[in-house]
Amino acid sequence: MNVEKDIVLITGASNGIGRGLALSYAEQGATVITCDIDEERGLQLIGELRKKGKSAFFFSCDVRKPEDVERVFQDIDEEIGTITVLVNNAGVSTFTSMFDLEVEDWDNIIHTNLRSAFLFAKQASLRWKKNNVQGRIVNMASTRAFMSEPNSEGYAATKGGLVALTHAMAASLSEFGIRVNSISPGWIQTENYDELRDIDHEQHLTNRVGKVSDIAKACFYLTDEDNDFVTGENLVVDGGMTRKMIYEH
Ligand SMILES: NC(=O)c1ccc[n+]([C@@H]2O[C@H](COP(=O)([O-])OP(=O)(O)OC[C@H]3O[C@@H](n4cnc5c(N)ncnc54)[C@H](O)[C@@H]3O)[C@@H](O)[C@H]2O)c1
Repeated sequence: MNVEKDIVLITGASNGIGRGLALSYAEQGATVITCDIDEERGLQLIGELRKKGKSAFFFSCDVRKPEDVERVFQDIDEEIGTITVLVNNAGVSTFTSMFDLEVEDWDNIIHTNLRSAFLFAKQASLRWKKNNVQGRIVNMASTRAFMSEPNSEGYAATKGGLVALTHAMAASLSEFGIRVNSISPGWIQTENYDELRDIDHEQHLTNRVGKVSDIAKACFYLTDEDNDFVTGENLVVDGGMTRKMIYEH
């Protein structure tokens, strides 16, 4: 794996999984660009990375807004160059009874989790096509694309949409050597891991809840320049939780 010459753009990277991905890519020597609506945490992370001598940039962006997305890419063009890796990670998970879910709530989650991935992928791919860059995209889906608890219609629809968007874009962009894959994390505990209970760990075939580093490893695999036989794929990283049969008898 050689990410040193990669310029990696990660959305929603001020917190949680995105933040962990930014730290991991920077640790491996990539240039890291993050964007998020949380400016305070975003700038704090970039300060932390720069202090360690890493090449890191933050752009404030509401991923729901096409004009924000276009501006981020124009700023990156002017200040940094062409990205090589895009991780569409920004997302919100709200759970509401479908009887109370208003159309504004529906649109908000669709725009945040799903439309944003298309907007970012389009801007990145326009540049890759023009500059002949074999870019790589990872969309952060969820195991909730495949199985559900009640009251998760909006979230589940965005994650199922991301899995489908992934193979559709992989087909459209293959002629330019651009690869598109998704990761479906299961339960990834991004903070206070030590406070998890035995029962939390035991519901996984691996007997533990996931960590951000589990997603980083999957992301490295899918964005590795050399792994150019993998595209349109969804990689489930859930400790076997969705493979564990529940059969009470
Ligand atoms: N943590 C898990 O267990 C888990 C499981 C499956 C999938 N995921 C997915 O992984 C991704 C990251 O999840 P997380 O747990 O790290 O969440 P998180 O809430 O910790 O981080 C999400 C980040 O996205 C940013 N964000 C939200 N709305 C935005 C907007 N409109 N514009 C720009 N940035 C915005 C937030 O500010 C935050 O920094 C999400 O897409 C989530 O659906 C997480």
